[in-house]
Amino acid sequence: MLIGQITDMHVKAGGRLAYRRVDTAGMLARCIDHMLGLRQRPDLVLFTGDLVDFGRAEEYAMLRRLLAPLPMPFYLIPGNHDDRDRLREAFPGHACLRQSEPFVQYAIEDWPLRILALDTLVPGEVRGRLCAQRLAWLDAQLSAAPDRPTMVAMHHPPFQTFIGHMDEVGLEGRDEFAEVIGRHRQVERIVCGHLHRPIEARVAGVVASTCPSPAHQVALDLAPDAPSRFVMEPPGFQLHLWNPGTGVVSHTAFIGEFAGPYPFFEADGSLVD
Ligand SMILES: [Fe+2]
Ligand SMILES: [Fe+2]
Repeated sequence: MLIGQITDMHVKAGGRLAYRRVDTAGMLARCIDHMLGLRQRPDLVLFTGDLVDFGRAEEYAMLRRLLAPLPMPFYLIPGNHDDRDRLREAFPGHACLRQSEPFVQYAIEDWPLRILALDTLVPGEVRGRLCAQRLAWLDAQLSAAPDRPTMVAMHHPPFQTFIGHMDEVGLEGRDEFAEVIGRHRQVERIVCGHLHRPIEARVAGVVASTCPSPAHQVALDLAPDAPSRFVMEPPGFQLHLWNPGTGVVSHTAFIGEFAGPYPFFEADGSLVD
């Protein structure tokens, strides 16, 4: 089972650029092209929030057009830039978005690896929150299927990244989240967005990660007073391969034109010298 993860697309409409610099719609189109050109296409794609830039209806309409080429099922999770109602209106065929209103939280049961999508959105705020109601849902879902290997997907990561300005707009309720995860044995991985770069940390014994954006990346600066800035480092997405007995193995794919691939070996099998 191969899962594609694309996050933080920040799609804008009408040819507008994010932060007046980034052609996020064009960069998502290139990301989708790249993913569909892989020798192994994902079976499904998870979009882990900040789907559009300002939560506007016209941005969701643009997102819908950009995702239309995907032949595989895809799943949408809100981030702090999203609007739950407009997201639901733009994707009326996605019944899962209404599975646990008012939140956009749902269980994906159609694959050997079960996926629980969490909603960390707080309308009008940049930081995220997992309140008692959302955590109770997670606990109940995990309690209902203790023997099914499970991936948890959400926008705000449940760990400190030490990129100071991003931690300030991090996740409230992460200790309580870790308590819930620690009570269950079947969680294989926690995949997140929000950070616009690949980062890994352990949460209640489980590997948790963030994924690069197909557009702009957050500047790598671990100073506590790091200014809030982005850089146009190579855009990317991730592939999470789940194999029974192995667990989840994750790869980062970079989007762009790169030289190669070149062979390591000569035609006779000797190493190229
Ligand atoms: Fe973002
Ligand atoms: Fe975000």
